[in-house]
Amino acid sequence: DRPDSRGVLVQHGATSSAIHDDGVLAQAARRRSFAVISHPDAGKSTLTEALALHAHAITEAGHINGKSGRRHTVSDWMEMEQARGISITSASLQFSYRDTVINLLDTPGHADFSEDTYRVLSAVDAAVMLVDAAKGLEAQTMKLFAVCKHRGIPLITVVNKWDRPGLDALALMDEISERTGLTPTPLTWPVGVAGDFRGVVDRATGEYVRFTPSAGGAHIAPQETLDADAAAALEGDVWTTAVEESDLLGASGADHDLESFLAGVSTPVLFASAVRNFGVHALLDVLVDLAPSPSPRAAVDGTLRAIDDPFSAFVFKMQAGMDTSHRDRLAFIRVCSGLFERGMVATLARTGRPFATKYAQQAFGRERTVIDSAYPGDVVGLVNGSDLRVGDTLFLDKPVEYPPLPTFAPEHFAVVRAKDAGKYKQFRKGIAQLEAEGVVQVLRSDLRGDQAPVLAAVGPMQFEVAEHRMATEFNSPVSLERLSYTLAMKTTREWTAALNAERGVEVLLRGDGELLALFADRWRVASSRRNHPTVVLEPPVAA
Ligand code: G4P
Repeated sequence: DRPDSRGVLVQHGATSSAIHDDGVLAQAARRRSFAVISHPDAGKSTLTEALALHAHAITEAGHINGKSGRRHTVSDWMEMEQARGISITSASLQFSYRDTVINLLDTPGHADFSEDTYRVLSAVDAAVMLVDAAKGLEAQTMKLFAVCKHRGIPLITVVNKWDRPGLDALALMDEISERTGLTPTPLTWPVGVAGDFRGVVDRATGEYVRFTPSAGGAHIAPQETLDADAAAALEGDVWTTAVEESDLLGASGADHDLESFLAGVSTPVLFASAVRNFGVHALLDVLVDLAPSPSPRAAVDGTLRAIDDPFSAFVFKMQAGMDTSHRDRLAFIRVCSGLFERGMVATLARTGRPFATKYAQQAFGRERTVIDSAYPGDVVGLVNGSDLRVGDTLFLDKPVEYPPLPTFAPEHFAVVRAKDAGKYKQFRKGIAQLEAEGVVQVLRSDLRGDQAPVLAAVGPMQFEVAEHRMATEFNSPVSLERLSYTLAMKTTREWTAALNAERGVEVLLRGDGELLALFADRWRVASSRRNHPTVVLEPPVAA
């Protein structure tokens, strides 16, 4: 299943038959591209698996078995790589459902890689906020929610693990509304408290969708739809309570409204048990019926690139294969306009140079199959992506450049040096590559010189990845010396000397041309401001 070394455009077979001769607009209208945001352990991998199962992309949940005893899911890419020692690289899972092509973009689970997640969120049209019924909104969920809100990404909320004891459903709605500011508008309402999940009220029809468990949740859970009378006869008080609560919601204006959902003001809510495959079907229907298809994207000059303009895309993620013998380095692009065809030669906006896309591939778990085209909303992996940087724009015919992907404010800093000074060439190449991929930010200054740049990270695990890859992939083991700076502010050239003269302050140049002043703590920032009342110091927050 390894692509040939020259690279071909490959993609999981689930949708290859879905590519017809429809125009670009029609194809784009059939696309739904989204990501799941959640706190670790809320059930993102389980949900991903269940979604793919329902969409018939795979036949049995957990069909890829890894370590003995623990069921592995298709989306457990990294974990599988480690467990099996093989290379699986993937950024998205694509499957068809009804007449729609769904692209589920993978987001890293660990908070240290939130910068990666941010970039992925720049490539989706909607997001699913997955909430653990027992825990409510957790830290990482809130952090990612803030990003979605900032970008105006419409959000669907799924309350997961309703099969286990958890919070009260109405209390959960209160929490969502108080902590996110969004109006929760449940589409379904649970019949049975958390831990006694019998089914849901379909709030649009008033019908009872009753779940019947399947063995271990490995197959699509059967469900039946009953009318209210039959539901009342079957479930008695439990049904009555569910209907009463649902009516209370209606009376307080918590009914679904498409316009406010798309505007990022309200969030449709579903109740689910991913592990039992309950409520997953409903999520797919919501994605198809309510989630937006790709819309025209704003270029750096503010103009909108129409969906049916010639091909354009931007790089939102770079990934290197874990297998060092195959330098398969993928640049993942999100198609924004036009038709992507294997073999086309696009222009790289940053350099104006041609970029041959025949060296391209896409992965689904570890399966790879060839397709010939992709449409707005789709993700394509380009091999030989070493000329590309995260944020780069590719286009055909009509020039366009999309805004650079915002960077997070780094909070961890370390000087990096080659352990073996004789390997300086490898060292430089490796550092430049990690920078292009956005693995870490790289800061340089005349003071520190080329041999000892400063790595800047949002989370310290980024350093571990950089250190590991320098040794294994670039054959240049490095040493890292942590610096005591904890925050960075943007400044300008005319303030460099004055700031460098301050104690506990240092100005360095980032790869994107931004000058960053590093401070040991916020007291030093305040002190520099006192010493230089007109100094330019701005937080480098993500745009
Ligand atoms: P993540 O990707 O968000 O980190 O979560 P993941 O899917 O790995 O799920 C975390 C744990 O929660 C797993 O249990 C998983 O089985 C469980 N889980 C996911 N969805 C549900 C659900 O709807 N109901 C219940 N009861 N549990 C759910 P684990 O203990 O890590 O593994 P396992 O031994 O149970 O498989």
